[in-house]
Amino acid sequence: MSLFTNGMECTSIFFINSFIVKAAMLDMMKLQNWLTSVFFLIVATVSNAEGAFVGVNVGTDVTDLPSASNVIAILKAHQITHVRLYDANEHILEALSNTGIEVIVGVTDEEILGIGESASVAASWITKNVAAYMPSTNITAISVGSEVLTSIPKVAPVLVPAMNHLHQALVASNLNFRVKVSTPLSMDVISRPFPPSTATFNSSWNSTMYQLLQFLKNTNSSYMLNAYPYYGYTRGDGIFPIEYALFQPLSSVKQIVDPNTLFHYNSMFDAMVDATYYAIQALNFNDIPIIVTETGWPSFGGASEQDATIKNAETYNNNLILRVLNGSGPPSQPKIPINTYIYELYNEDKRNGPISEKNWGVFHSNGSSVYHLSFGASNLSIGNSLASFCVAKDDADTDKLQDGLNWACGQGQANCAAIQPGRPCYLPNNLKTHASYAFNDYYQKMHDAGGTCDFDGTAITTTVDPSHGSCIYAGSSNSTIGGRSSSATAFGPVGPFGASLNLQVSSLQYLVSFISVLFAQVLL
Ligand SMILES: *[C@@H]1O[C@H](CO)[C@@H](O)[C@H](O)[C@H]1NC(C)=O
Ligand SMILES: *[C@@H]1O[C@H](CO)[C@@H](O)[C@H](O)[C@H]1NC(C)=O
Ligand SMILES: *[C@@H]1O[C@H](CO)[C@@H](O)[C@H](O)[C@H]1NC(C)=O
Ligand SMILES: *[C@@H]1O[C@H](CO)[C@@H](O)[C@H](O)[C@H]1NC(C)=O
Ligand SMILES: *[C@@H]1O[C@H](CO)[C@@H](O)[C@H](O)[C@H]1NC(C)=O
Ligand SMILES: *[C@@H]1O[C@H](CO)[C@@H](O)[C@H](O)[C@H]1NC(C)=O
Ligand SMILES: *[C@@H]1O[C@H](CO)[C@@H](O)[C@H](O)[C@H]1NC(C)=O
Ligand SMILES: *[C@@H]1O[C@H](CO)[C@@H](O)[C@H](O)[C@H]1NC(C)=O
Repeated sequence: MSLFTNGMECTSIFFINSFIVKAAMLDMMKLQNWLTSVFFLIVATVSNAEGAFVGVNVGTDVTDLPSASNVIAILKAHQITHVRLYDANEHILEALSNTGIEVIVGVTDEEILGIGESASVAASWITKNVAAYMPSTNITAISVGSEVLTSIPKVAPVLVPAMNHLHQALVASNLNFRVKVSTPLSMDVISRPFPPSTATFNSSWNSTMYQLLQFLKNTNSSYMLNAYPYYGYTRGDGIFPIEYALFQPLSSVKQIVDPNTLFHYNSMFDAMVDATYYAIQALNFNDIPIIVTETGWPSFGGASEQDATIKNAETYNNNLILRVLNGSGPPSQPKIPINTYIYELYNEDKRNGPISEKNWGVFHSNGSSVYHLSFGASNLSIGNSLASFCVAKDDADTDKLQDGLNWACGQGQANCAAIQPGRPCYLPNNLKTHASYAFNDYYQKMHDAGGTCDFDGTAITTTVDPSHGSCIYAGSSNSTIGGRSSSATAFGPVGPFGASLNLQVSSLQYLVSFISVLFAQVLL
């Protein structure tokens, strides 16, 4: 499973394609759409299509950071196969060895200057933080800084030189085919993200962007995008329906359509990814895949952050997983899966900024979940199957089921009080539901420590919450709402859609599209 897709050459078709987009004429759009499908057919046969994945960011600004082995246990219990670190934490890198988990290691913002100015500093960085762990720790990429173009613009002149130095050091260690170098950028580098077809990078970064894209193309690396519909929605001041941000169905009066391509955007996430593809194309690069290195939704915030709720976070991230694991790309690049890293594993209580900044995690640092997240969406996944509940199989052998029940409530130390007569989960009084309750209780307590959902083949995991009435199963979102801290000041994972939002929301899609075409021509 590679993060990076090999390149392909489709320049001539691509040129025609982008020419027609600029022509922006309705009757040529059919032709353009046709050409687009031809283009993607070619892409499909050239690139090796692999399953999509959802990984997770592991930020460590946590007061009681779990031990590295506990971090790994939680990743394994949830069958998370891809992680991104913000630095090169030696304990975590060590603990990731021989786990099969693929790792992006981070060059911190502070390290970029030294690496950019000196090839030998870059070489020592690679020796110490990459080569030392390979191959037992499967490092597949290095992310250089975090949104540095927008957060510390003065670093821009050394960014690509730093990436080049790191790449050269990888070449010298013969690791360049296994480890790719890129840099995560925020949506703020794009000046006009909607409609996606007209998106361009803010021209202040022209030369850096050009060098960067050239580097990514030459080294077969991906563009790393941090895409936050949370910010696109909250800063959009009500122009966007929240359903659009949360991957929920849009009513027929709120369809969001790119007037130039007539592509429907079912989610802001897709629109952000596509805007980035189009911005890359506007600089005449056409075969650089995008991976989303960060996206997510905070589960709690301050008084002015009312959209930061457990419900929204749970909805966003679960729908995101379903979206990504369906394996399709955004409308303009349907064959390139949008591999994505959720921000983030743990709530980072030590982060500065608004209250939401401390509440992006899926888990509390003690390992309990903030809300229920199901990775179990798809067979396209390469093992992301967090099916959170463990229940008895329908056709399980009765004797084995009884043995399993006895074991779970005994040696397995499941809390079986709720299935005793008179208690909430006693009814329906049958072996299968009692075993399910006990199996699940054991599984919830023990899976982080390696406990499995098997019970001699009588048990199976499921994403469906088996709770009913007052009988609440362990791990149910109704039983896991935790407390949160409160304090803070100002900043976030730097955001998404910039200031100028030229959005079209309408039932009369063609009429609006036509008006927008005119509008888009004014912008062009
Ligand atoms: C490391 O990840 C790469 C990319 O997916 C994969 O091809 C390779 O087999 C992995 N190596 C190990 C040792 O797991
Ligand atoms: C482009 O970037 C410059 C410098 O960061 C900034 O001042 C300007 O507002 C940006 N333009 C747009 C349209 O985002
Ligand atoms: C950036 O590139 C675009 C497209 O090539 C060009 O139109 C624009 O003038 C350039 N801006 C700067 C500041 O160089
Ligand atoms: C990039 O991919 C091409 C085509 O697969 C290959 O020939 C080239 O050696 C690769 N370059 C690097 C730096 O990985
Ligand atoms: C995958 O998701 C995209 C975007 O929501 C959708 O357009 C497409 O139909 C889905 N594909 C499948 C096979 O479900
Ligand atoms: C995934 O599941 C669907 C429906 O069960 C099936 O049609 C499809 O072939 C499966 N795909 C893979 C890659 O196994
Ligand atoms: C969880 O609680 C909500 C609201 O109290 C309720 O509507 C829902 O049915 C409960 N879910 C389960 C699985 O019990
Ligand atoms: C874990 O931490 C959260 C937040 O501090 C708390 O609400 C929850 O009760 C804790 N869970 C356990 C099992 O200690």
